[in-house]
Amino acid sequence: MTRIDLRSDTVTHPTPAMRRAMAAAELGDDVFGDDPTVNALEARGAELLGKEAGLFVASGTMGNLVSQMAHLGRGQELIASAESHIVQDEAAGHAVVVGASVRAIPDRPDGMLDLDAIAGAFRDPMDPHEPITGLVAIENTHAHSMAQPLTVAYTRAVADVAHAHGVPLHVDGARFFNAVVAQGVAPADLAGPADSISFCLSKGLACPIGSVVVGSRDFIWRARRARKLLGGGMRQVGVLAAAGLVALSDGPDGTIARLADDHANARRLAEGLADLPGIVSPGGAAQPSEGRLDPARAATNFVVFRVERDRAAFLDALERRGILMVAYPHGTVRAVTHYGIEAADVDAAIAAVRDALAETAGTAPAPRPS
Ligand SMILES: Cc1ncc(COP(=O)(O)O)c(C=O)c1O
Repeated sequence: MTRIDLRSDTVTHPTPAMRRAMAAAELGDDVFGDDPTVNALEARGAELLGKEAGLFVASGTMGNLVSQMAHLGRGQELIASAESHIVQDEAAGHAVVVGASVRAIPDRPDGMLDLDAIAGAFRDPMDPHEPITGLVAIENTHAHSMAQPLTVAYTRAVADVAHAHGVPLHVDGARFFNAVVAQGVAPADLAGPADSISFCLSKGLACPIGSVVVGSRDFIWRARRARKLLGGGMRQVGVLAAAGLVALSDGPDGTIARLADDHANARRLAEGLADLPGIVSPGGAAQPSEGRLDPARAATNFVVFRVERDRAAFLDALERRGILMVAYPHGTVRAVTHYGIEAADVDAAIAAVRDALAETAGTAPAPRPS
């Protein structure tokens, strides 16, 4: 049985062009700063996003962590969305490593945070009881809202609030290029208002490993020190950076433009699922809570939904049919389209979901979150 793995876009394997580039990569010792392939990747990432400098790091989590370490001092506070990866899924690195607290703002179903809520979350620096706000962070695409892409105008508006209070804006752009492609904007325009962006190579862009952090030269110098502190100084790591250079290249081997296929496939999946009795809108934070799954919310490469069944039994029935999806927060199910998933796989997944729903009919769904 062929397996169709829709758990995440992190399951992608490198393209043939990436494998060739990795095998042929020119290498040096990156801690000495002389791996030419890493240097080229960092320069390419910075150039694409219109920033002064870049830094290759092991993961999206490390990208967010070194960015926080570079922006924040111990005892400071970060404003971020309650459902964000930084707050929910990075093992409290902000507290454990950075020494910073979080002021969490409720997420909206459109993936945005209320600007007044952000403005109201700043601390009073004259009050010695309070931590000092040092950073605002947003996530683009915004995963928990079914990966909604955030606009240039919104990013600019958040940056204006942050800058008016004298603090920088960091964008967790794990799927930044999905947001770029979905909206047809230039990467540098979407990155422009932010002071730092971390984007993942290892998700939709199909590289095996890595993220790139970009920002000003001073910021990247501090982030580089932070990466060393974390043990993230790597040596002949051009062998991995080579895949990233292919991903970010213009022309047929690059993997940015093809994200449009993933978005079309996600939409196709959402349309197919929305018609099935037993599939409903996801509910929970950052999602509409009632009624039919709205396929228009599949704006990038995520489909998040709720099954009116026992979720574990449903996922198990699906897996026995060769389709992998994943349990997602607030009792939901997530499917993610990516390199290697074709329209025919999506159609096979819809058919398998129909069968799995029939097999698990009558099992008890988890209560909807209030
Ligand atoms: C929005 C977001 N940010 C950051 C990360 C962290 O990336 P990594 O798994 O490479 O640490 C993820 C991972 O899924 C993510 O979805």
